[in-house]
Amino acid sequence: MSITNDIDLRCMQQISQIVGETLKQMREYAKPGMSTKELDEFGGALLTQYGAKSAPKLTYGFPGWTCISVNHEIAHGIPSERTVLKEGDLVNIDVSAELNGYWSDNGGSFILGTDTQNLLPLVNASKDILRTAIQNIRGGIRIADIGKLIDKEAKRRGYKVILNLTGHGVGHSLHEEPEEIPNWYDKSNTGRFRKNSVVAIETFISTQSTFADTLPDGWTLVGDCGGFVAQHEHTILVTNSVPVILTACNNIWE
Ligand code: CO
Ligand code: CO
Repeated sequence: MSITNDIDLRCMQQISQIVGETLKQMREYAKPGMSTKELDEFGGALLTQYGAKSAPKLTYGFPGWTCISVNHEIAHGIPSERTVLKEGDLVNIDVSAELNGYWSDNGGSFILGTDTQNLLPLVNASKDILRTAIQNIRGGIRIADIGKLIDKEAKRRGYKVILNLTGHGVGHSLHEEPEEIPNWYDKSNTGRFRKNSVVAIETFISTQSTFADTLPDGWTLVGDCGGFVAQHEHTILVTNSVPVILTACNNIWE
């Protein structure tokens, strides 16, 4: 969406704060021995308390309030009683929600407790790369050039990117134009970031795979060559200078 007035801005700030706060509290609530279903119910209760509706549920009929992906799952993991979190798991929570017709999207990977799988470097790379990408976005910058930057920063650290998962426009719906903000240089993508537009920038930094495949459950995404993927996502407002991070209350860099 494009923010054209104070109401748009205030409503986007409000829903962005709700998804950011929900994600932050879910991350703090997650403990070894807890099922992802229990963690999701906690997040769903928060969204309801804030008056917001789960975006994936509303838009796609997703069977959960939030997406929780563990270890080899990249994204869109279905909260389940059978998935019980363990010390050292790589956990990704993605919270997106709607309030008063405004939508926001915030996600992040983290290590649960002690880093038994030595995945902290991957998680930190994804956080750093998201920060670098956001800092370089301005009105008029080519979308493809930000993809190029993300890919370059991933390779410099010894990682890859997932080619078929992207950031996207957000605001009046969960996914809107620009439909795809890839994490690689797609020269056919001639779009540019526009001042006052709202977009969700999301990294998919990978140890081995470069493609995401959907499991038979119809939702869960896993890598085509295994390994691990870290994702960090913020909803931002594009300006003529450094973007405003609308979901900044969930500060992944602190
Ligand atoms: Co998301
Ligand atoms: Co998103």
